[in-house]
Amino acid sequence: MTNRTPFIVANWKMNFTVPDALKFETALTHELKATGEVEIAIAPPFTALYSLGVTLAETPYKLAAQNVFWEESGAYTGEISGAFLKDVGCEYVIIGHSERRQYFGETDETVSKRIRAALRDELVPVMCVGETLPEREANKTWTIIERQLKMGLASIFLKDVERFVIAYEPVWAIGTGRTASSAQAEEVHSMIRDWLSKNCDGATAERVRILYGGSVKAKNAREILTQPNVDGGLVGGASLDPIEFANIIRCAPQRSQSN
Ligand code: PGA
Repeated sequence: MTNRTPFIVANWKMNFTVPDALKFETALTHELKATGEVEIAIAPPFTALYSLGVTLAETPYKLAAQNVFWEESGAYTGEISGAFLKDVGCEYVIIGHSERRQYFGETDETVSKRIRAALRDELVPVMCVGETLPEREANKTWTIIERQLKMGLASIFLKDVERFVIAYEPVWAIGTGRTASSAQAEEVHSMIRDWLSKNCDGATAERVRILYGGSVKAKNAREILTQPNVDGGLVGGASLDPIEFANIIRCAPQRSQSN
């Protein structure tokens, strides 16, 4: 029996101007009148956070950012702190996305700093972990994920880990149309939960939501989202179409009733 509320996060990446974001919100709330027991967050680019946040405040949808810098304020040209994200209504922040690791020099150390900063500013981190294709083929999937978990959760209080969201995103499945099979996803998700149980405690492991990300679409969402250790999805490309995104949300199980 689990009480984890399914969580679907739209990661818009570098897409949508402010008018596009507002148009999406109108279309989504028209398409999906009620969200049921599913929690939903949208992560637009920084430029649309404020305007989207104002409209989302009238809805059950939550606001998320795609990154956060670890200092609070000061001479850091081009950076945005957690306090600023909080100021525009963010509740969540995606940290350590593989595109940031790939193109912007993100490392396990910087991920760890961002996580601590997010918690300091009362944002919930959505920490991304995942292996590349060569790592999977060399049977290193778990070694990589364990290292990312260890570093990401280093010096975090247990009470904070509970609020964490972890997103397992196999790098080879992001934006490629190649999804992990539901069995592959479930295998890694249950290993992450076991790791949390051993390294934190059983109750914490039961509370942490573990999302799957990587080419989630309406047509494969039900199979993935109904796996016992998959608590939702981090959706990139398919979150840019409000009807497709609504159909993904409809695939999330109403967990607290069904098991
Ligand atoms: P995708 O992206 O759904 O387009 O594969 C997922 C992500 O990068 O979070």
